[in-house]
Amino acid sequence: MTERPRVFVTNSMSGLQVPGGGSVLAPLHERTRCEVWRQPGSPPRHALREAARDCEGLLCLLTDSIDAELLAACPRLRVVSSCSVGVDHIDIAAATTRGIAVGNTPGVLTETTADLAFALLMAASRRIVEADRFLREGLWTPERRWELDMFLGRDLHGATLGVIGLGPIGRAVARRAGGFGMRVLGWSRSARSVAGVEQTALERLLECADFVSVHVALTPETRGLLDAPALARMKPGAVLINTARGGIVDEAALAAALRDGRLAAAGLDVYENEPIAADSPLIDLENVVLTPHIGSASIATRARMAALAVENLLAGLDGRPLVHRVNP
Ligand code: GLV
Repeated sequence: MTERPRVFVTNSMSGLQVPGGGSVLAPLHERTRCEVWRQPGSPPRHALREAARDCEGLLCLLTDSIDAELLAACPRLRVVSSCSVGVDHIDIAAATTRGIAVGNTPGVLTETTADLAFALLMAASRRIVEADRFLREGLWTPERRWELDMFLGRDLHGATLGVIGLGPIGRAVARRAGGFGMRVLGWSRSARSVAGVEQTALERLLECADFVSVHVALTPETRGLLDAPALARMKPGAVLINTARGGIVDEAALAAALRDGRLAAAGLDVYENEPIAADSPLIDLENVVLTPHIGSASIATRARMAALAVENLLAGLDGRPLVHRVNP
């Protein structure tokens, strides 16, 4: 009998169960010699290298940096399976050169992430978090029982949403916008026609949209796509939502535009550096809703992502096609 392959999993996934119960990692424990990182947070770099050194499979999160140096330190590695749709934490070219298959988990998180983008859109436009803070801080006094101009926000219905990136998540956001009576403009690097979405140039989208939601992957081409000049093109009073990756937006330029009121608000789930620095200029701004990278964080979706990541890993180890493979 051949020896079971050795794998390292960088997270215990303890809160996640497959439908009907049972650990999402059970198939790995049955079919591989599986070591799991059980300490809080991601393994530090040296611990990851040590643990993965003799492994044929690695199941990682987006917080693990799988760069060329790490891949070179793991000569037996055949498959890296990331429990994420984004793979900007993995050096795909280096993996491909080494013949290592890289898997990710698209599809299963599309609707959940689109829900969060829409939640941020509504929270930012109707100032929900600001209003919640006001109430909890005891500022809702009898004298201020109901004021005509209290927490005035912006309507979604009748407004124009610009969707940057028309992949599955961008399209799911566009569908929601249609249901809310919004006109939808869309821009994608690979022009594609989407029902209910008027395709346009990025410049025009920025100039015309009352709300802009970002849904492109972070790649060398999209890093800084919304830089200071692009943000300056946005309609005065517009609202920006980013649930994709922080590196796509120039955070300092965004903070400046929000501070001086040129942009009305933003809803952000992702940041240039995560966790966001305590002294980030965004933290002190009332007109920004900030969440800690929770786009796909529903109970069912995280379990599906983990199960798919396990499936990808086992397929790669068996020499079968991955369900979702990123590299050729
Ligand atoms: C989340 O950001 C993911 O890439 O899955």
